[in-house]
Amino acid sequence: MNEYDSGIVRELFKKENYESATTIEDSDIIFLNTCAVRENAHAKIYGRLQSLGYLKKKNPNLVIGVLGCMAQNLGEDLFHQELPLDLIVGPDNYRNLPELIKKIRGGERDVQLTRLSKLETYDELEPKVINGIQAFVTIMRGCNNFCTFCVVPYTRGRERSREPESIIREIQGLIDLGVKQVTLLGQNVNSYAHEHSDFAVLVEEILKQTKIERLRFTSPHPKDFPTHLIDLMAGEERFSSQIHMPLQAGNDKVLRDMKRSYTQREYLDVVDMIRKKIPDVGITSDIIVGFPGETREEFQETLKVVKEVGYDMSYMFKYSEREGTIAKRKFIDDVPEEEKSQRLIELVDLQTKISHERNNSKIGTTFDVLIENTSKKSKLELCGRSHCGRMIVFPIPSGESSDPKDWIGKTIPVQVESASSATLRGKAVRG
Ligand code: 5AD
Ligand code: SF4
Repeated sequence: MNEYDSGIVRELFKKENYESATTIEDSDIIFLNTCAVRENAHAKIYGRLQSLGYLKKKNPNLVIGVLGCMAQNLGEDLFHQELPLDLIVGPDNYRNLPELIKKIRGGERDVQLTRLSKLETYDELEPKVINGIQAFVTIMRGCNNFCTFCVVPYTRGRERSREPESIIREIQGLIDLGVKQVTLLGQNVNSYAHEHSDFAVLVEEILKQTKIERLRFTSPHPKDFPTHLIDLMAGEERFSSQIHMPLQAGNDKVLRDMKRSYTQREYLDVVDMIRKKIPDVGITSDIIVGFPGETREEFQETLKVVKEVGYDMSYMFKYSEREGTIAKRKFIDDVPEEEKSQRLIELVDLQTKISHERNNSKIGTTFDVLIENTSKKSKLELCGRSHCGRMIVFPIPSGESSDPKDWIGKTIPVQVESASSATLRGKAVRG
């Protein structure tokens, strides 16, 4: 989502006739677009800002700004830390950036704008953030869920959805530029609501009105999971059958304290319903260990759910107390750091084992793979995703073009031959 927001800022400055610098040394303005979701995201930005200090000495006109969630969350406190910093702007105030830059150029110091908006969706900017054959498109901003650990409702404000026409126009523009796969982004996509449209209606409209080859999305909230979305996924070839469904924790008391609005049973029932309708679905998760008050026994229930669901992959985190959140006000961050680390190791070990098993079970299967790129390790290998979101690496098929460019963007059948916990490997087969 931050990559997409950086695209919005780039688009705004393009409209004001600014040019993109080729190197950081050539820049007269540097923005760091920041995340506040965990403490290590903050730490990275402090380090990065300090490392930019030397450029300010070389170029007295250089303006350095912090954008995004950390700017919104810490506000002017950031100015009090002796950092090389001129400007702090929150996620809803990017339209003001060109004018704020002018103020700084006119001599104003420590300029800040962190006003949340109930309406801003940057609709008409349509920044077209492309990476090869794929692109992200933000469809909604903000979140109303207030999970107690999470800073997002405070840094990104209330939920608001983009206009379907603008989303579809942006996707069409991406297709015209060669994009084959679009990932729809929102903090909570099942809350997408625009007049008579909900998320499933939006997906249907996108599929009807454009020829996008593959549509993905992230993330839904496990409460009120729309069943018609699953039906659509089961029936629509172009709608990827991959669901990122954050569990966060497996124990009911911890889930209640997190204010996740579902129990372990309810979560598992949603997974059952999904698997019944789409047997080959890829399910991934976000999980937090060491939430305040979480006992060893309660943590064991997270492991139990991870085993029972059998996620293809998970993002796993140690709880990190955030400024302004309900958890910070209501609970004590009482699980010792070593214990959090220990739980994380256990969880990562389990997930790695499960990912490996799940990948092994795919050996022999043939998937239609949309080729995204050459593999990270070799220019002689291609990689791409199956319909269910699994990444598969395979050699460039012999006998035809050996130039990867001729393959990227094509969909071809690939049979899986081997598997590690992270990757499937295979070979192209005749379709
Ligand atoms: N501590 C640890 N992890 C967090 N996340 C969000 N807030 C915190 C926090 N305070 C994780 C959640 C979320 C993902 C984006 O980041 O798992 O789904
Ligand atoms: Fe944060 Fe919960 Fe909203 Fe996700 S649903 S952004 S975890 S408050």
